[in-house]
Amino acid sequence: METQIFEINEQSLEIAKKYVENDIAIGFPTETVYGLAANAYSDEAVRSIYRIKGRPSDNPLIVHVHKDFDINELVYDEQPYAKLLREKFLPGPLTMVYKSKGKVSPFVSCGIETLALRVPSHEGCQKFLKFVNLPIAAPSANISKHISPVTSGHVFEDLKGLIPLILEGGKCQGGIESTVLDVTGKIPVVLRSGLISREMIASVAGDCELYVPKSGEVVRSPGLKYKHYAPKCKTAIFKANQLDKVKEIYREYKYSGKIPYILCEDIYCSTFAGYNVLNLGKTAEEVASNLYFRLHQGEAVADIIIAVEPEEKTGVMTGVINRLSKACANEN
Ligand code: TXA
Ligand code: MG
Repeated sequence: METQIFEINEQSLEIAKKYVENDIAIGFPTETVYGLAANAYSDEAVRSIYRIKGRPSDNPLIVHVHKDFDINELVYDEQPYAKLLREKFLPGPLTMVYKSKGKVSPFVSCGIETLALRVPSHEGCQKFLKFVNLPIAAPSANISKHISPVTSGHVFEDLKGLIPLILEGGKCQGGIESTVLDVTGKIPVVLRSGLISREMIASVAGDCELYVPKSGEVVRSPGLKYKHYAPKCKTAIFKANQLDKVKEIYREYKYSGKIPYILCEDIYCSTFAGYNVLNLGKTAEEVASNLYFRLHQGEAVADIIIAVEPEEKTGVMTGVINRLSKACANEN
């Protein structure tokens, strides 16, 4: 199958709609990462997503809807704070997990009784969702476990030959996946950290917990238990007080004829003058926006990416560190 990349316009939206209506998955942009879209009502379409990605069959999918879609068609909206959160943060990078009405394909939620709903803010994405006018089940558009795609080129690299179309939406500005928030209980619970931080949610909902899986417990967001976001090269990660160790590993690789790269925030770049560096930028938002983009750049040229973990751990950095530590788990 040939994979085409089209700008978003009337013509390409017509083509996209036909594919979606015929149970054929396609790539599309959001403000966080690119997604792999399928009609959420169709068993056949939703199952194809797991097949294309090589995704474990117990990891549920997020359903994407346009901003005028009535969520009461799909879920029970029971907690008063959920409305406040929607008004404040949607459309945007916040996925909310509700009790499901069971209207979409059972393969979306893999048998659990909740449904994750997301209203993306990306303009081209909204156009696509509105034009198709169906709830769209979509994971990130990468092969399972690889780094999530933040350009159409990244989607193409992973899924060429497997999908017929990728809608072009430019580089994703958010850069890491949406915050996943359980809104079924009295207090909202962050299941996956992202650009809408726990602190931001608490300031609207009054309180917000961060889910930490206890050993032996059934994981509430199944995606959390899998290795993720990994570049194809070797990786290592060190704390900001271990910069000497970073240099030592770097030199070891360099002297054995390998190509090492250091992945770090802008503040450390002067310490690594003369080294190969992938600069993540300054603010937490910048670092989130650059993270997967730099990992993609790195894996294309490096034998090893040696990451420096940001010192800031709160707010948006919680999500950044979660992704970075999964992507660059120490191997050596
Ligand atoms: O930003 C994003 O969320 C992107 C774009 C494409 O929208 N999508 C994305 O999807 O990251 P995916 O499939 O890579 O991650 C979905 C996450 C997984 O961790 C999954 O376990 C969790 O959402 N999830 C989905 N449905 C759930 C549910 N009903 N209850 C708990 N967690 C759920
Ligand atoms: Mg993913």
